[in-house]
Amino acid sequence: MASVTRAAFGELPSGGGTVEKFQLQSDLLRVDIISWGCTITALEVKDRQGRASDVVLGFAELEGYLQKQPYFGAVIGRVANRIAKGTFKVDGKEYHLAINKEPNSLHGGVRGFDKVLWTPRVLSNGVQFSRVSPDGEEGYPGELKVWVTYTLDGGELVVNYRAQASQATPVNLTNHSYFNLAGQGSPNIYDHEVTIEADTYLPVDETLIPIGEGAPVQGTAFDLRKPVELGKHLQDFHLNGFDHNFCLKGSKEKHFCARVHHAASGRVLEVYTTQPGVQFYTGNFLDGTLKGKNGAVYPKHSGFCLETQNWPDAVNQPHFPPVLLRPGEEYDHTTWFKFSVA
Ligand code: BGC
Repeated sequence: MASVTRAAFGELPSGGGTVEKFQLQSDLLRVDIISWGCTITALEVKDRQGRASDVVLGFAELEGYLQKQPYFGAVIGRVANRIAKGTFKVDGKEYHLAINKEPNSLHGGVRGFDKVLWTPRVLSNGVQFSRVSPDGEEGYPGELKVWVTYTLDGGELVVNYRAQASQATPVNLTNHSYFNLAGQGSPNIYDHEVTIEADTYLPVDETLIPIGEGAPVQGTAFDLRKPVELGKHLQDFHLNGFDHNFCLKGSKEKHFCARVHHAASGRVLEVYTTQPGVQFYTGNFLDGTLKGKNGAVYPKHSGFCLETQNWPDAVNQPHFPPVLLRPGEEYDHTTWFKFSVA
């Protein structure tokens, strides 16, 4: 059972419209989602003593989400992650996207799905957002109809992404929440134990584009198949953090992706998905300059993202899982964020 309430969150400048906030509540979770970028702005989870804390980074007010900020809580599209040099070919025709992370296109371009107002529809246990991405938006081919649905089921937040295209186009949708299971505003995630169900990962070049085939994690810092304590692990391997795609074992059916345990609070996040990959990002580019909720500042490594998705730059790498959606087909992916205590 979940309840859903609806309220105004803020006004966009220059008559751009009203951003609304939807609060989904079950006996175990409370999540706030706004119609700007389908963004999760708060997620309250109980610890083993039953004390609730907000475990996602973000802002108290709309202004925070309108400034330059690293995609806190937002849905990313039309194509999440990087496309090399913002260029690709579909059926022999070359397309050029907006370059917003030199020399590549990142997370949909200059004005991706995170920076638009979506149309909400309240459901009995959640909220559905929809929009039509026009032909040529940020350089992408064809019109794309998109539906993002958040539902709550006990301790589980379920996110479903659907899309239909008028022309063949790459599509790769995810949510970019930054979690800190100690409670947002905690200085780092070093005491989190992380497990990712992947035998291979994608090594990248200096612009974070995959350089080819998946490499075995065995014997490397990327072997997260057994839980590792993040801070110690980064130290042991002299790593600046993770910002990599892990290739998941599963097929298009629901499969286990990752588990993160915060022993001090007991909070556990388990992620399941139908996607072939997950970008594990440890907030390496956070630098403490943003003013977050409750006076929080967000330094490097103060949150982690588990962005379930197709593999980065798949549109240019023919041996990666297919990323093109053609007219008459349906894009349909689901990710489950399951919270518990242990
Ligand atoms: C990417 C990072 C990027 C961040 C944006 C992540 O999904 O992998 O490289 O900096 O998003 O803040």
